[in-house]
Amino acid sequence: FELPIVAPSILAANFARLGQDIDDAVKGGASWIHCDIMDGHFVPNISYGPGVVKAAKSSAPQAFIDVHLMIENPDDYVEAFVQAGADLISVHFETCPHLHRTLQNIKKYGIMTGVVVNPATSLHNIEPVLNDVDLVLIMSVNPGFGGQSFIESSYDKLKRLAEIREEQELGFLIQVDGGVNLKNAKKVAESGADILVAGSSVFSAEDITARFEELTEILG
Ligand code: DX5
Ligand code: ZN
Repeated sequence: FELPIVAPSILAANFARLGQDIDDAVKGGASWIHCDIMDGHFVPNISYGPGVVKAAKSSAPQAFIDVHLMIENPDDYVEAFVQAGADLISVHFETCPHLHRTLQNIKKYGIMTGVVVNPATSLHNIEPVLNDVDLVLIMSVNPGFGGQSFIESSYDKLKRLAEIREEQELGFLIQVDGGVNLKNAKKVAESGADILVAGSSVFSAEDITARFEELTEILG
């Protein structure tokens, strides 16, 4: 991938015309599609499951399908999301008592693995698995809803993670999720994010294609 990139989160799309919304983002240059899976247990909201991921994949067959699991017992659902077309599955540190095992379980399907930390979770918790993941996702809002404000302390967390990556000579991608918009995208990328998830700032725009292009240009 040519980094940094913007990964549109379809949580903020209009589900009644999901295919058109995805098309519009792809026309603007989107190469990743971020899928937010919420179970009403780990997070206080329910979003959608593998069926919608499969629909997203079929409407954008060239796109990289990025699945962010905000669910309890993620191991039980890995296979279903792989079958739905996931190219990457990311799991929360907070949901995985046997994190290393869960990551191996994802890896055995030959797709990319990611680990996610909530805003109040320290990076120390994931240091033992940094060698086992392709991506680390820093939540810049408390997961559960689109349209929240970016938590300012996330800038330092991104910088610290980029330092750790350099110190330990590791190759994982750094992703950030929540509250990314036209105003903060540049600073977010400069703090170390390679992949910026953007939901409402992309899909609530009048012109999704133009907004996606605008967000990407800011990073240029
Ligand atoms: C939050 C989700 C995000 C969300 C981002 O729980 O993980 O991916 O859709 O939405 P915005 O960009 O609107 O904050
Ligand atoms: Zn997400």
